[in-house]
Amino acid sequence: MAHTDIERGQLCQRLRPEGTNAADWDEFAAGIQYLRLDFADTDGYARLAGLLGEAGPAEQGARLYYLACAPRFFGAVARGLARVEELCPNPQSRLVVEKPFGRDLESARELNRLLHSRFAEEQILRIDHYLGKDTVQNILVLRFANGIFEPLWSNHYVRQVQITVAEDEGIGARGGYYDNAGIFRDMFQNHLLQLLTLVAMEPPATIDSDSLRNEKVKVLRAVRRVAGDAVFDESVRGQYAGYRQTGRVDPESNTATFAALRLQVENWRWKGVPFFLRSGKGLPQRSTTIVVEFNAPPHVMFNRDGQDLDLRPNALTLRLQPAEGMDLSFETRLPGRMQMAPVKMNFDYAQHSPDLAIPDAYERLVVDALSGDSSLFIRSDEIELSWEIVDPVIRAWEQVGSFRLGGYERGSWGPALADEFIERFGLSWIQPEPRPGPMVAGSAERAGET
Ligand code: BG6
Repeated sequence: MAHTDIERGQLCQRLRPEGTNAADWDEFAAGIQYLRLDFADTDGYARLAGLLGEAGPAEQGARLYYLACAPRFFGAVARGLARVEELCPNPQSRLVVEKPFGRDLESARELNRLLHSRFAEEQILRIDHYLGKDTVQNILVLRFANGIFEPLWSNHYVRQVQITVAEDEGIGARGGYYDNAGIFRDMFQNHLLQLLTLVAMEPPATIDSDSLRNEKVKVLRAVRRVAGDAVFDESVRGQYAGYRQTGRVDPESNTATFAALRLQVENWRWKGVPFFLRSGKGLPQRSTTIVVEFNAPPHVMFNRDGQDLDLRPNALTLRLQPAEGMDLSFETRLPGRMQMAPVKMNFDYAQHSPDLAIPDAYERLVVDALSGDSSLFIRSDEIELSWEIVDPVIRAWEQVGSFRLGGYERGSWGPALADEFIERFGLSWIQPEPRPGPMVAGSAERAGET
């Protein structure tokens, strides 16, 4: 259902994936119905309940309501769907809620309150498509199905963690949405913080959805809050050249299209290790990586002409996309001379499983939603804690207009301010290597934001 005026036949045509066999498609499409309604119109929901009631017992399996509309309608639609459930109940009904879930802490709380007044938490599936990515789930396998990494995974051995979600594209036709959101809402509150929780969490006792999410919540609670003037020391932002000339963007906009944020997880495992989160549009390449950089050896006994050799700390790089895989870098001696060179041990999904395409994130999430597995969806406390971390950062930047909004050219690694920022901590950005294309079956389509 939606408010677009479109015939069922036309819709089916639009939905038909390229290359599908006509007979298969017709058989599948016979089950598609379309109901046009105004989201605020209660009669419309009664009609929807009637339509659902007409389905025979075989069609009364799990019912998934997928809210992929503009967020301002989430409340009205949830109220309407609660009415549908009264008229035509289904014990297996679930509600998938697309991002953005609120635009700050207060609106996220309000939306949670509203949803909870009509649906049980177990029925509400807040989506973050990053959790549906195979390589993101592999973070847990890497950490908890291997014996060699976990003992090193703490402030005893890790110097810093860098989580980068870089995109080469600009905001395209999404100016209306993006100019109101900006990079912190669009990427940090959800995807980047989710990646942080998976890297930093303790091993859960079991993999069931609540044990997993309890551990993620503990990480979010342990993140030191950054607010007020401290925001300007702990984060940096930028806007790519030409952004203000994009359609539906305010010509004087101070919305950030790039940001980096240093977070500290204050617990026994991570105290003292900086987590740098960085994301931007218009960067040199599309690439999502997590780099865990280990401490340098405490003493360097290798030298040449009395000079200590400059050794690079070992790093484990998880390449989440594209060219999915991981690298472990270490120093080696060049043949025939006392000189070191950093080399890498690589694992590439494409090489290891050339016949297996990595499934699209949304495919996986929809299957989980249908089977009622909420492990890869965000719980209400998780979403509120994420906002609690990001909201003061957004607020501080929004109050200062164009102050320290670094400009950058498209195709660069963000504003010069970003380098100065990390150098203040005695570190530098570890840039992903340019790599060939992706292995993912299809790119994630995003709904409900434009
Ligand atoms: C979406 C953001 O959630 O994630 C987009 O709204 C961003 O701005 C996208 O481009 C990135 O997703 P992916 O799967 O392409 O890395």
